[in-house]
Amino acid sequence: MTAPTTHTGSAPDPDGPLNPVDYSQRIPNNVGLNTDRRLQRALEGWQPKFMDWWKELGPAIPTQDVYLRTATAVGRDGWAHFDRVPMEEYRWGIFLAEPEPDRRIAFGQHAGESAWQTVPGEYRAELLRLIVVQGDTEPASVEQQRHLGSTAPSLYDMRNLFQVNVEEGRHLWAMVYLLHAYFGREGREEAEQLLKRHSGDPDSPRILGAFNEDTPDWLTFFMFTYFTDRDGKYQLGTLKESGFDPLARTCEFMLKEEAHHMFVGTTGVQRIVERTAQIMRDHPGDDLWDHGAIPLAVIQKYLNFQFAVSMDLFGSEQSTNAGNYFTSGLKGRWGETRRKDDHVLLDQTREMNVVEDGRIVQKTVPLLGALNLDLRDEYVADCENGVRRWNQALEEAGLDERLALPHEGFYRQVGAYAGHHVTPAGEVVDEAAWQARTDEWLPTPDDRSRVGALMVPHHEPGSFASWLTPPPQGINEMSVEFDYVRF
Ligand SMILES: [Fe+2]
Ligand SMILES: [Fe+2]
Repeated sequence: MTAPTTHTGSAPDPDGPLNPVDYSQRIPNNVGLNTDRRLQRALEGWQPKFMDWWKELGPAIPTQDVYLRTATAVGRDGWAHFDRVPMEEYRWGIFLAEPEPDRRIAFGQHAGESAWQTVPGEYRAELLRLIVVQGDTEPASVEQQRHLGSTAPSLYDMRNLFQVNVEEGRHLWAMVYLLHAYFGREGREEAEQLLKRHSGDPDSPRILGAFNEDTPDWLTFFMFTYFTDRDGKYQLGTLKESGFDPLARTCEFMLKEEAHHMFVGTTGVQRIVERTAQIMRDHPGDDLWDHGAIPLAVIQKYLNFQFAVSMDLFGSEQSTNAGNYFTSGLKGRWGETRRKDDHVLLDQTREMNVVEDGRIVQKTVPLLGALNLDLRDEYVADCENGVRRWNQALEEAGLDERLALPHEGFYRQVGAYAGHHVTPAGEVVDEAAWQARTDEWLPTPDDRSRVGALMVPHHEPGSFASWLTPPPQGINEMSVEFDYVRF
């Protein structure tokens, strides 16, 4: 059994330390970049362009340093190191998860064959597209969030925002590495384009809709990290199964970083709900805004919106592309190796919802053609967990009100529900009924401006905004009052 080698020919020593990251080089990496001078030079040529992009469209508020974690090794233990870092000196680099010896493709028509260490010619265009679309989302969210620092509800939260931002920047590096290393001139050109499209730019927008939406306030940010970063988690989960081993190893390590983004979203919304629940309990009947907190109905509307736009990111329920990606071995299902079926899926079917004559009805479709729906269902089940957790805060406060995910058909622009109006409760309604009630279901300009008015900076150590509770503990065993960001 031999360990698969990377394209650089630098086979990792299976008995050596767990892929330590080499920080002595201009581009920190654990892929032996210095053994491939051409690739190294190409990436060193891209690096200043990335830095220009970060300065222009990364976090807008000037800071001295931020208490950030940096990867030191990709193994299970001790991969993170915490320190105060001036953000522009953050060491973005290329980190792949350890290779799995003799890794085999787990699904599709190539099931059982050795995973590919180079790009198979027949799948080159599809792989390039998958990597470009994933890569495009990473810098997009940094652009969307660039003004949030100036209204951070605490230094703790500001630090978490910046941690997410530098890691999304690193995820861009992860995809650009694959483009440069495996796709030649075409890959290098796509890498340039990743810095040229910008979130919300009318002439050159980001590829996916949710990544062109505004993130104007922290309620949106926490909903984004909960729902939209979680879409990212599920997409990465399918790519981590890829037969193209460098992509699989890249995504596996990205998923470890992504866990923190999930944490920021889950606990961020949780702390907002906790504050709202406290006020509702202690001042029944009062206007929440008067207490500097956010009404539960408004939290629900933000949740509705972010869930719907994130559901659209999964694409159409029925997709020939998704089926082809699977059969070709490019993109697996969530938890592919844990599934108890033949991993080929020919002749299998499943149920899906469609709208017919103003009603939602089920129809039976081939499973292979409905893999986007398969992934989306996994995602929705995961989303429910957070909602349950948030509802606990309401229950503990002795309140009857609850938050809920809207129906899967609510406010959808993509797939089977596009062109129909479905209420959060799952009722199909006509245009007039929809127009009459959207203000109950989606944030209104007034909601947004009231939330916006609460976004006043809390930039003193230990100070927290009125509309959320402080976290139960700080980062890396530091206190909640620690000055996580210095100006
Ligand atoms: Fe990411
Ligand atoms: Fe993320």
